[in-house]
Amino acid sequence: MAQLVVRTAGESHGPAIVALVEGFPAGVPVDAALVDADLARRQGGYGRGSRQQIEQDRVEILAGVRRGRTLPGPIVLVVRNRDARLETAPEVHRPRPGHADLAGALKYLDLDMRDILERASARETAGRVAAGGLAKALLAQFGIDVLAYAIRIGGAAARVPAAVAERRRHRDSSDVYAPDPDAGAAMKAAIDAAREAGDTLGGIIECVATGVPPGLGSHTQWTEKLDGRLARAVMSIQAIKGVEIGLGFAVAERPGSQVHDPIAYDPGRRDDPSLGYVRATNNAGGIEGGMTNGQPIVLRAAMKPIATLKKPLPSIDLASKAAEGASYERSDVCAVPAASVIVEAVVATELAAALAATFGGDTLRQMKAAYDAWRRAAREL
Ligand SMILES: Cc1cc2nc3c(=O)[nH]c(=O)nc-3n(C[C@H](O)[C@H](O)[C@H](O)COP(=O)(O)O)c2cc1C
Repeated sequence: MAQLVVRTAGESHGPAIVALVEGFPAGVPVDAALVDADLARRQGGYGRGSRQQIEQDRVEILAGVRRGRTLPGPIVLVVRNRDARLETAPEVHRPRPGHADLAGALKYLDLDMRDILERASARETAGRVAAGGLAKALLAQFGIDVLAYAIRIGGAAARVPAAVAERRRHRDSSDVYAPDPDAGAAMKAAIDAAREAGDTLGGIIECVATGVPPGLGSHTQWTEKLDGRLARAVMSIQAIKGVEIGLGFAVAERPGSQVHDPIAYDPGRRDDPSLGYVRATNNAGGIEGGMTNGQPIVLRAAMKPIATLKKPLPSIDLASKAAEGASYERSDVCAVPAASVIVEAVVATELAAALAATFGGDTLRQMKAAYDAWRRAAREL
């Protein structure tokens, strides 16, 4: 069985964004409407620019699904671009600080940075969100749920309710995908103020995965460590500049006695994902030694403010080298809410890959049998 891998292709203003999903187990029920709901959430969120009013993302499944179930072969997902004008889009000669523009121009020896920004654009993440929808469908078969939300936008921070269901309820009725209605209002005000000032805002996204069994990922090889894989997947999202798991950077300030989560056994909780090996705290964020430990996975990602500014930052014309303001491409003021949907998708994809690697992912049926057998054995340990 091949490893579950997602790759994407497509330019921001090309005909479509495409995702190729390989190594996905056969027999998983797929509901395109659920994928479309995530695609719509990715387009939404307060602070987005006018591009999102043009697009109406929908997934087309071109290969790998028959009668609503995944086939053994690769899956191809397509999200068409309505704003498709790659051939006529104007050249870009003034690199925008914070973008791939300058580095790409020098790497590919081309003064027109259109070729670079078309692929560097976060439009690419429509493909990763579509693939994440499939991953979520697989995880749901094992009672694993992934939820991400915005906990900070600029100076406005959210209070995160203890109950994950409450976080979801608030998030789903929030324009900024925040788990806290009061903070949601402050976040919107912060975005409005940034827009009026011709500026942009970043923030922090939190992601929690529940129902995760112990033992996903592996301590045996650095490439298989789940914390590393998650960090790479999340860090690869456009504009994400920091990733932390559990306490994250705060571990540096505390002594060990206040960081590590003491272990206890509660036979009454043997049916929980933890199998009864309970922890009063979850500072590790659900991962120890590169493996899940039965506690919820908790991950946070810091997003930088959007780099395209209405009041352009100083730059140069790449041909003449004369000082000029950076190019302006129609742009978002804040995309933290949208990025939370992408974090959710890529975390789901990494967890699905780890689950398939652990329980042999040729077919859903085989995975379920292996999962149940392992659970029985672990309970008898
Ligand atoms: C959902 C989302 C939407 C984004 N929208 C914009 C945008 O409208 N304008 C912009 O300049 N950057 C936007 N970005 C960020 C850029 O794509 C990103 O900063 C740029 O490609 C450089 O990559 P890096 O920040 O990872 O170094 C967005 C990022 C995400 C995740």
